[in-house]
Amino acid sequence: MKVTVVGAGAVGATVADNIARKELCEDLVLLDIKEGIAEGKALDMMQTAALLNFDTKITGSTNDYSKTSGSDVVVITSGLPRKPGMTREELIGVNANIVKGVAQNILQHSPEAIFIIISNPMYTMTYLTLQATGLPKKRIIGMGGALDSARFRCYLSMALKCSPADLNALVIGGHGDTTMIPLMRYATWNSVPVTEFLDAEQQKQIISDTMVGGATLTKLIGTSAWYAPGAAGAAMVEAIVRDEKKLISCSVPLEGEYGQQDICMGVPVILGKNGWEQILDYKLNEEEQALFSKSAEAVRGMNDVLKTL
Ligand SMILES: NC(=O)c1ccc[n+]([C@@H]2O[C@H](COP(=O)([O-])OP(=O)(O)OC[C@H]3O[C@@H](n4cnc5c(N)ncnc54)[C@H](O)[C@@H]3O)[C@@H](O)[C@H]2O)c1
Repeated sequence: MKVTVVGAGAVGATVADNIARKELCEDLVLLDIKEGIAEGKALDMMQTAALLNFDTKITGSTNDYSKTSGSDVVVITSGLPRKPGMTREELIGVNANIVKGVAQNILQHSPEAIFIIISNPMYTMTYLTLQATGLPKKRIIGMGGALDSARFRCYLSMALKCSPADLNALVIGGHGDTTMIPLMRYATWNSVPVTEFLDAEQQKQIISDTMVGGATLTKLIGTSAWYAPGAAGAAMVEAIVRDEKKLISCSVPLEGEYGQQDICMGVPVILGKNGWEQILDYKLNEEEQALFSKSAEAVRGMNDVLKTL
């Protein structure tokens, strides 16, 4: 197995660090456009191998795509992160050009790769990658729901004073502060609906904290977060390279599912060695379906901006 992570910044380096620690592949390439940063971080990580006991070989590359040749999975994190007060959507102008160029370069050297897109605005960047590469839709996957669902479980666990590992909870829809949909009705604590333990006010607070989870961190740190995004990206790589058939909320191209088409949106999918293998049809109630449609409208508006760039 060979995995490439493009962008050796905060998120990319954390994805790579998690992949190496878990030995998800034999060869891991970290690529960045900034001279030396990928080589430096790769070497720094290689120097943890003796301490952490992993055998993954990590190579850094300054924009030399030949080193990424034959990758099975590629994670794209290149692009600007948001600053406090910014929305993810404001990044579209700069990041669209970066992501498109990167995807085309990768494709030349790894025509069989499965793409995981992390750069923001992630839903539009996933849609753009689909268009720019012309790859089969099952090999294009956006990372947003994995992170947002982990944040949802984190806030739920704090309110319930329980282990996040005992919780099942998904966020679907868009990946913006106003477009994501934490599915409270479907969230369970070891099979029991969490709604049995939380009053309406608590539920509302958890949903709202989850939706602005990224913005809260951006305000605290001064830039966008990386530990949870990095772990979420690596969890998706793990599901693919180990063929886990794991159910994860991911942004994938829809063709009628959840009433949408010609768009990439966050829905529950099964991830395995072929990329995303199946979309699960959760029975949304009227209110949830209305939120999904509204979210899709916002994402579609952002996709339209691509035509003007
Ligand atoms: N989808 C999510 O859930 C999620 C979560 C967190 C961050 N993000 C997004 O991920 C992206 C990266 O965030 P970060 O905090 O790591 O930013 P960062 O600034 O730390 O790192 C970005 C890296 O991309 C590199 N880069 C820029 N253009 C490039 C190109 N053409 N080729 C190769 N490398 C290039 C930069 O040199 C930099 O090292 C941002 O767009 C951010 O908004 C998404």
